[in-house]
Amino acid sequence: MAEKEILLNVENLHVYYGVIHAVKGVSFKVPKGSIITIIGANGAGKTSTLKAIMNLVKQKKGKVIYNGEDISKKGTHEIVARGLTLVPEGRHVFPNLTVLENLLLGAYLRNDKEIKKDLEFVYYLFPRLKERKHQKAGTLSGGEQQMLAIGRALMSRPDCIMMDEPSLGLAPIIVKQIFDIILKLREEGKTILLVEQNAFQALKISDYAYVMETGKIVLEGKAKDLLNDERVKEAYLG
Ligand SMILES: Nc1ncnc2c1ncn2[C@@H]1O[C@H](COP(=O)(O)OP(=O)(O)OP(=O)(O)O)[C@@H](O)[C@H]1O
Ligand SMILES: [Mg+2]
Repeated sequence: MAEKEILLNVENLHVYYGVIHAVKGVSFKVPKGSIITIIGANGAGKTSTLKAIMNLVKQKKGKVIYNGEDISKKGTHEIVARGLTLVPEGRHVFPNLTVLENLLLGAYLRNDKEIKKDLEFVYYLFPRLKERKHQKAGTLSGGEQQMLAIGRALMSRPDCIMMDEPSLGLAPIIVKQIFDIILKLREEGKTILLVEQNAFQALKISDYAYVMETGKIVLEGKAKDLLNDERVKEAYLG
């Protein structure tokens, strides 16, 4: 089988916070149309890795290639405009704006007639958001806020969506809905880079996975192989 086209290629990425060396030379590849996951414990450097890809950290080193182009030195808005986006850890919706206003903010870089179509796509994925489009985001449940954060990211019409701990703090039934949506996004042709502490669920839906510990990738493999790996089982699957 021919190797799939690599949409996102991260090479030797480092992140520093002053004297703290949080990400120590991380490299990984995200093939087009796949779900790739990075698992790892608290403080492993997962969020820092995603932020560095979006150029949301001050000090970083390394190369990030997206769709064949070096984006390491591009501004965040330029990266979003190229089709790569991040659903941040903790959701960060604007509580005093309505659902619809939050969604439209996700499209702020765009000025085309397709915005309405993309809004319909978000409402198709998340009928709940459509029902609540005039409700203030701060009054939504945790699960609904996560749906809104994903919906807002989709409004930039990304090809690749990075999600930082989308299941954190959500009830099991809502977690299942979120993971079902991730699978659906792949069916719709999107590419997903998922960061999760919920290793079991993440590995179940992913194609390939990386394990991060204290700033480094210590293990990688097909997700279904990692589900059966003794080291992974012991450290992450309880
Ligand atoms: N703004 C910051 N200033 C200083 N240190 C930071 C900052 N952000 C993160 N760090 C440190 O960098 C390391 C990696 O943090 P990061 O948030 O990337 O980990 P993570 O894998 O996402 O953890 P979690 O699973 O808890 O979200 C940690 O030791 C953290 O304390
Ligand atoms: Mg994190």
